[in-house]
Amino acid sequence: MSDINTALITGANRGIGLEVAKELSKKGFQIFLGVRDIEKAKSALAELPELQQQSEIVMLDVNNEESVKKAAKYIQSKISHLDVLVNNAGILIAAEQPIQETSSQEILTSIQTNTLGPLFVMQAFLELLLKSPFARVINVSSGAGALSNMGHWAPAYSISKAALNAVTCQFAAALKEYQIAVNAVCPGWVRTDMGGKIAPRSVEQGADSIVWLATEAPSNLTGKFIHDRAVIEW
Ligand SMILES: NC(=O)c1ccc[n+]([C@@H]2O[C@H](COP(=O)([O-])OP(=O)(O)OC[C@H]3O[C@@H](n4cnc5c(N)ncnc54)[C@H](OP(=O)(O)O)[C@@H]3O)[C@@H](O)[C@H]2O)c1
Repeated sequence: MSDINTALITGANRGIGLEVAKELSKKGFQIFLGVRDIEKAKSALAELPELQQQSEIVMLDVNNEESVKKAAKYIQSKISHLDVLVNNAGILIAAEQPIQETSSQEILTSIQTNTLGPLFVMQAFLELLLKSPFARVINVSSGAGALSNMGHWAPAYSISKAALNAVTCQFAAALKEYQIAVNAVCPGWVRTDMGGKIAPRSVEQGADSIVWLATEAPSNLTGKFIHDRAVIEW
C-alpha cells in the first residue's frame, strides 16, 4: 500500500469543495475531484497549478448511480486505498418557498442530490475506504438540517440535509468496527454561489472543519455533527 494519502471530493469544481481540495493538496494528498462538468473543472484548475499537479478530475454526477459506479471503478484502478471521502456536492432549490407550497418534486430533487448522492457515493467507495487504515468520511451538511434548531427556511433543502444527517449516523454506526469515521459538518453561511455574496464566512472558514476532520481530528470521533471543530446538536 502506498504511503500517500488519498482523497475524493465531490462537487469540487467551485465553492467549499474546491477550497477543501486546495487545502488537502497543500497537505500532500493525492486528490480526485469528482465533478459533473469536466470543462468547468479544467477551467478552475487552470488557475491553480499546484492543485492541478496533485489532482485528477473525474466525472462523477452524484445523481446518477451509474456515473458514481464508473467513477469508483476508475479510481480503484488508480489507487490502492481511499483515506478521505468528502461528500460535498449539493444543491439549494426553492429556498424561499414555504413548506405549504413546496412540491414533492422539489423535495425529491433535493433528496436525490443532497441525501441519496452521498449514500450512493459511500456505498460505491466502501471497498476502497476499507483498504485505508483509518478512513474518514465527511458529509457536508448544513445547520438548516438540524432538527434541534429547525426553522422554516428552505424546507426542501433542510429536509434533505436532516436526512443526510440520518444517513451519516447510520454509516457511522455500521462502519465503526472497521475504523471508518463518518461525520457531518455544518460549514456555516459561506460566500459561494450557493451562499451568496453577503454571507459572513469565507470559503477558508467554511472548509476548516472539513479539512480538520479529514486530517487532524481524533480518529475515534465518529457519528457526530461538527461546526467550527466542535460537536453540535443534531
Ligand atoms: N455556502 C453555504 O453557505 C453553505 C451552508 C451550509 C452548507 N453548505 C453545503 O456545502 C456544500 C458545498 O456548497 P457550496 O456553498 O460550495 O455550493 P456551490 O458553490 O453551489 O457548489 C456546489 C457544488 O456541488 C456540485 N454539484 C451539484 N450537484 C451535483 C451533482 N449532481 N453531481 C456532482 N456535483 C454536483 C456543483 O457542481 P456544478 O458546478 O456542476 O453545478 C458545485 O461544484 C453543499 O453540500 C452545501 O449544501 C453550504
